[in-house]
Amino acid sequence: MTPAARLATVSPSIIRAMGQGAPEGCVSLGLGEPSWPLPASASRALAKAYGEGSTCPYGPNAGTPELRRALSAWLGSPEDTLMLAAGSQAALFALFQAWAGDGDEVLVPDPGFVTYPVLAAMAGAKALAYELADDGSLDAERFIATLDKATRAKLAVINHPANPTGVGASADALAKVARICQDRGVVLVSDEVYRDLYLENRHPGILDDGVRRGIVALGSMSKAFAAPGLRVGWALGDPDVLAPARLVHNAMTSCLSRPAQAAAVAILDEAQAVLDESRRQLRLRWDTFDASYRKMLSFLPPPVIPAGGFYHWMPLPREGLSDPVGFCMRVRDVGHVIVVPGVAFGARGAAFARLSWGGFPEDTIEGITRLAPYWRT
Ligand SMILES: Cc1ncc(COP(=O)(O)O)c(C=O)c1O
Repeated sequence: MTPAARLATVSPSIIRAMGQGAPEGCVSLGLGEPSWPLPASASRALAKAYGEGSTCPYGPNAGTPELRRALSAWLGSPEDTLMLAAGSQAALFALFQAWAGDGDEVLVPDPGFVTYPVLAAMAGAKALAYELADDGSLDAERFIATLDKATRAKLAVINHPANPTGVGASADALAKVARICQDRGVVLVSDEVYRDLYLENRHPGILDDGVRRGIVALGSMSKAFAAPGLRVGWALGDPDVLAPARLVHNAMTSCLSRPAQAAAVAILDEAQAVLDESRRQLRLRWDTFDASYRKMLSFLPPPVIPAGGFYHWMPLPREGLSDPVGFCMRVRDVGHVIVVPGVAFGARGAAFARLSWGGFPEDTIEGITRLAPYWRT
């Protein structure tokens, strides 16, 4: 496949498109990022480390020794099981480039994070969408049914707690999916970037019993550590899976930003306090969202506490079903509130919209108030 043919299948993210050209005064329930302040330790590290007159050199491809050490200690895993990346997004890109090629197949969830099919296409591979359980959790049998149909599967991605549904995966489903991927020689990437951003309890991870052959788990500074702009993420897992991905990442970025790495070290130095504060902020936002939703959308079932993250997966009203993107555009252009049409996350998301309540609480109240009339049809 030519590079042009690969890129022809890639269109800009609908999530970003919903924000572009939005009328002035729109409230956004669209983008998924924390709205609470960067941890103070990170702000201090940024201000202190690179003052006037200091140099800001490149660093090792693999990341600064300080960050590698800090992350290895935090994750309780040796440094050779870690790949630092410019956001987990860059780790995903590197893993897809390293493990999927022309004509290969990559299993991706539907609905699922918009990036997965794009990265498959960029690698020249075909995304094979697998269905989740009816409640949105990982369904090992449905995953295996899709894998059984594949002829050239090289890579599979699972995401829990999930974007866009907020639902997690049971330890049993994770074990079954891990085993089948190992048996079939399929590299398994478990995207767990929302795992530490929870309201009730931490959900199982794929590597809870230690690093295993053929499997990597993704983490990030962007969600629970409240620092998306640092662009620091990581893949943890089988060093043999990480080795070729490191080469891709090196070629793509040389190394991570040094100031960002210094800030990430400062965050990890106080990791528990930072996570406690993020969960406090998340609770505040959830309580606001839940109360506004119950008040303004009392004719709908109340929202469900997610396994992690700040998304609500909302069924569209009947009126929105025939043209979900047009409907969400009308909600934006006339109602002045941005939500993401679920079809952006795959064909099985077509009857839904994704709402993010990670923004400022007052925006969430306003956004729910504005969108309510569109659902009351
Ligand atoms: C499921 C999922 N994975 C990965 C990412 C990428 O995050 P980052 O590159 O900021 O670590 C996101 C961002 O929204 C996401 O929702």
